[in-house]
Amino acid sequence: MQVTSTVKETRNFIRKWKQEGKTIGLVPTMGFLHEGHASLIRKCREENDIVVVSDFVNPTQFGPNEDLEAYPRDFARDSALCESLGTDLIFHPEPEEMYHDPHAYVSIDTLSETLCGKTRPIHFKGVCTVVSKLFHIVTPDRAYFGEKDAQQLAIIRKMTEDLNFDIQIVGCPIVREEDGLAKSSRNTYLSKEERKAALCLSRAVRAGQEAIFADCESEAVLGKMRAVIEAEPLARIDYISVVDALTMQPVEQVKDNVLVAMAVYIGKTRLIDNFSFTV
Ligand code: PAJ
Repeated sequence: MQVTSTVKETRNFIRKWKQEGKTIGLVPTMGFLHEGHASLIRKCREENDIVVVSDFVNPTQFGPNEDLEAYPRDFARDSALCESLGTDLIFHPEPEEMYHDPHAYVSIDTLSETLCGKTRPIHFKGVCTVVSKLFHIVTPDRAYFGEKDAQQLAIIRKMTEDLNFDIQIVGCPIVREEDGLAKSSRNTYLSKEERKAALCLSRAVRAGQEAIFADCESEAVLGKMRAVIEAEPLARIDYISVVDALTMQPVEQVKDNVLVAMAVYIGKTRLIDNFSFTV
């Protein structure tokens, strides 16, 4: 497995692999890898000759009062996991390799303004910028993203289409702990008590999934989900919303192709979860 920290070295490997006619899959991550990331890497391994994982805590997608400094990092462990999964190259740059001020940005209106974009106004601009850079550096045939970050996935799909990246975007299902909590690098912030409380998110997902079969008014579904979260004293809702799966705009009726998404604070930790509904 190759480990690179510069754009130049990475491009040299990619050029060689392309000359050999190999297909390339990219899994963008911010490291501190868990089973959710591993599921993306495995799928990428199945579908491509070469697997590239990027491991970079991207500063531009964190707001001024967010957890950039505290974000967990363990490159030695990430690297061992990637190697065991058959990764060919990890790109692990320092922020200085990726950004020089002033810097060009990529952003997308409308889809970035609802759900997580309301609480995190610069977040998706940072995500679109770093993912565009990675797409240009790695020039993959396919790139893998988790449905856990459903708004991010919808935004990346739209950006890829709008900016004519010749890359297939592959969405991968949410990987959960045995008790239902969606795997996340941020779960490490939770105390024992908070870890228990965090189960209200996946319980709310189940309540929402059941409610949809009884009533297709969005408010009725959201009411059932809110009740589950509000019963948990350590939880505070940031948002729960039913949106069109493509435009990310709220819809009043649960029709075909909607996303039901939420962000909930458990103590100081903000967690997200969601489910999609198609008829
Ligand atoms: P990160 O949070 O490290 O996640 C990397 C990828 O793993 C994302 O596509 C995310 O949706 C996926 N993922 C995380 N937890 C998952 C789970 N439980 N099940 C399935 N997939 C999961 O998302 C980012 O990094 C960044 O925004 C990034 C795209 C790398 C840009 O910096």
